[in-house]
Amino acid sequence: MRALEAPAAAAAAAPAIAIAIDGLEADRGDRPVLRGLKLSVAAGEVYALLGANGAGKSTTLAALLGFLAPRAGSLAVCGRSPQAELNAVRRIVAYLPENVALYEHLSAVENVRYFLDLAGERRGADEIDAALAEVRLAADAARQRVGTYSKGMRQKTAIALALLRRAPVLLLDEPTTGLDPGATREFHRLLDALRGRGVAILMVTHDLLGAAELADRIGLLAGGRLTHEWCAAPGPARFDLAALHRGFAESTA
Ligand SMILES: Nc1ncnc2c1ncn2[C@@H]1O[C@H](COP(=O)(O)OP(=O)(O)OP(=O)(O)O)[C@@H](O)[C@H]1O
Ligand SMILES: [Mg+2]
Repeated sequence: MRALEAPAAAAAAAPAIAIAIDGLEADRGDRPVLRGLKLSVAAGEVYALLGANGAGKSTTLAALLGFLAPRAGSLAVCGRSPQAELNAVRRIVAYLPENVALYEHLSAVENVRYFLDLAGERRGADEIDAALAEVRLAADAARQRVGTYSKGMRQKTAIALALLRRAPVLLLDEPTTGLDPGATREFHRLLDALRGRGVAILMVTHDLLGAAELADRIGLLAGGRLTHEWCAAPGPARFDLAALHRGFAESTA
């Protein structure tokens, strides 16, 4: 029974599952939105979740953040339940909504320092500057009011905060919507760097091409569950774009 012996060694080497969703059922009002969703994301993995408008992608993130109580099923973030251990989960997770909420009258440096304080995390000025430099927010821009920032600069500020919080799990809701192609590429570079540090990344997106470039796995949510899931193949082609388009068309037909 070699097939049964091999997994023990493989399991030891496999990255830890950081996000585990199983049999998730959740309602919005009295309308069932998620109906038996099963999905997992490993440490050091980028998972892109696609689906039509209203499919329940943001609802999935809301459940992971403990904003929504599931009717059935299980959810775990690094082994913690968002319902039973809300504070622990919020310490573990960094969340980027589509429109990152920052204090407009504060600079990036001040915003980052403020949110770190709120989270009870102390970081030196050098460390904050290093994180902002890593996301390529220029030092003078980082000291200007966020009210003057483009969307890309706001995203960079939020990613710098995630870096500084050393959050092992990153949830993103349509982070590249409204970014130009250069800013999207730059944003993907940041996510790739976080993946390299072992961060588990669950990214909701409508950008099929971007997902195909970046993600390790792509899942398609329809009818409250995953109807398709694809894994990146080794090599430059990664995903069969025609199959992705076909899957999307089938699931929204
Ligand atoms: N706060 C809310 N109260 C009531 N219904 C909601 C709420 N948020 C979402 N819904 C409903 O739940 C369903 C799923 O919405 P959700 O926002 O999760 O979809 P989505 O996949 O993120 O869509 P989109 O791509 O448009 O962002 C939709 O029918 C939506 O109208
Ligand atoms: Mg949404």
